[in-house]
Amino acid sequence: MTAQRLGLIVVAAGSARRMAGIDKVWAALGSHPLVWHSLAKLLPVARETVLVVRPEMVNRAQEELHLYFPDLMVVAGGSDRRESVADGLAVLQRAEIIAVHDAARPFADARMIREGCALLAINDGAVPVTPIHDTIKRVSQDGIVVETVDRAPLKAVQTPQVFRAEALKVAHRAWQCAAQSTDDAGLLEARGYRVATFPGDVFNIKVTTAEDLKLAQYLLSRRHS
Ligand code: CTP
Ligand code: MG
Repeated sequence: MTAQRLGLIVVAAGSARRMAGIDKVWAALGSHPLVWHSLAKLLPVARETVLVVRPEMVNRAQEELHLYFPDLMVVAGGSDRRESVADGLAVLQRAEIIAVHDAARPFADARMIREGCALLAINDGAVPVTPIHDTIKRVSQDGIVVETVDRAPLKAVQTPQVFRAEALKVAHRAWQCAAQSTDDAGLLEARGYRVATFPGDVFNIKVTTAEDLKLAQYLLSRRHS
């Protein structure tokens, strides 16, 4: 993989409904907003990077981040994650490989993109995964255990995910085939593309709730101590 061929999409256009009123991607993490961390480690390996934010945040994102990432493109996202990725995809015309990352994961590092790209020689996509250590049960709507699921083949999936650009574009155009998919790999799977896995990182947490933001603040403070 060469940086010349790699485009990076960082999606940050969500509404953070599970964060009790905190706009998570702009929440302070150390001395920068959370989204700054999500960009800083990954952007150097990409030839071009596009950040996707809510329409009303485009100007603020450009103003706050231009100083640190002068070449960063900022575009407005859509009403769900898939639309926001598609909005980023629309401006990455020349990339042969595209990495997609959730801004809500501030601790991803470039190792993941490099490892994923190495797998694209014989795969259409590659995603970071971690094993599941908890026992997993299927539970009915009224809270009664239905069955215990074999967790051995189950993995938790993270971002950044990397794809051959052509496969990602085709899969996005046919998104109705996998309308319930919560990630881009799901769109490729539905089209029969081959998606490989590589080791993720337990510290690559996704900030979803207010507790996760406290955990992220703790993890950052331990990194620098
Ligand atoms: N995302 C996006 N556009 C959307 C929805 C989500 O770019 N319309 C992004 C989020 O900003 C986040 C990533 O997709 O970086 C993963 O989504 P999630 O963690 O669910 O964030 P939110 O959708 O903002 O949170 P919630 O589901 O609690 O509202
Ligand atoms: Mg969401």
